[in-house]
Amino acid sequence: MIKHLRDAGDLDAGNATLILDTARELARLTGGREVKKLPTLRGRTVVNLFYEDSTRTRISFEAAAKRLSADVINFSAKGSSVSKGESLKDTALTLQAMGADAVVIRHGASGAPHRLANWVDGSVVNAGDGTHEHPTQALLDAFTMRERLGRLAGLNVTIVGDVLHSRVARSNVVLLATLGAKVTLVGPPTLIPVDIASAEVSYDLDAVLPTSDVVMMLRVQHERMNASYFPSAREYSRRYGMDGARMARLPEHAIVMHPGPMNRGMEISPEVADSPRSTIVEQVANGVSVRMAVLYLLLGGK
Ligand code: ASP
Ligand code: CP
Repeated sequence: MIKHLRDAGDLDAGNATLILDTARELARLTGGREVKKLPTLRGRTVVNLFYEDSTRTRISFEAAAKRLSADVINFSAKGSSVSKGESLKDTALTLQAMGADAVVIRHGASGAPHRLANWVDGSVVNAGDGTHEHPTQALLDAFTMRERLGRLAGLNVTIVGDVLHSRVARSNVVLLATLGAKVTLVGPPTLIPVDIASAEVSYDLDAVLPTSDVVMMLRVQHERMNASYFPSAREYSRRYGMDGARMARLPEHAIVMHPGPMNRGMEISPEVADSPRSTIVEQVANGVSVRMAVLYLLLGGK
């Protein structure tokens, strides 16, 4: 197994499948048990280093490490000496001195996990870096697709919306290509980057719905926008929002995903978000199993 998980490209098909299979086994071992803990990472230390806000990823990495009996240190930049100007490198060396076996990092700068891996001895796991990648999100998405649809190879996955700012989309494009699914990116031309290989591009959502097995809606990331990329929220929803009428155009078996957090009423209507075809809550639950598998395999747990 690899030492670090910095990008989805760190995983070949064998390692990615091993993570998904291990996640399934860990879910089976801990699901439904009154005591959800396994002793596998007893005595190991996992540091969660969060420079950007997070609900799902932060909580699920914490839950995953605790379920494997690791010691967990949660560090969030807010309230730390980062506000006194301390650099990422000095923060990393401080964590290193405390004996971190794994550092899970979310950072606003693309590439921060790569820098960090040069400064610490332990494993580095990318929990989202700028607009670059979010590999454990792609793994939990792949896990969810495989659980719901029984396979990944040959699936038609349509990723819709603000691809330009989406590290989720970037990691999914890479991982799904590794695992043999076909990805189509859909959105306004201003929000589709020109540099994404191994995916088709369409600007017409209604045209691709009838052949999609999976539709992954992306959040419009207002906080990363410094210009106006579409005329209005209403116009965006009209062309690229998933509502009940569009959901009805999907094949019967198709699922609707969203990494969260959602702008309800903009990229996805409440009717769709809360429908049985939506996997949004399952994605969160699967995130714990997948992150357990990642920590377990990277740290060589027994
Ligand atoms: N939560 C995901 C991320 O941090 C997606 C999003 O924020 O829209 O990348
Ligand atoms: N999907 C995701 O990464 O959510 P958070 O930003 O809440 O962690």
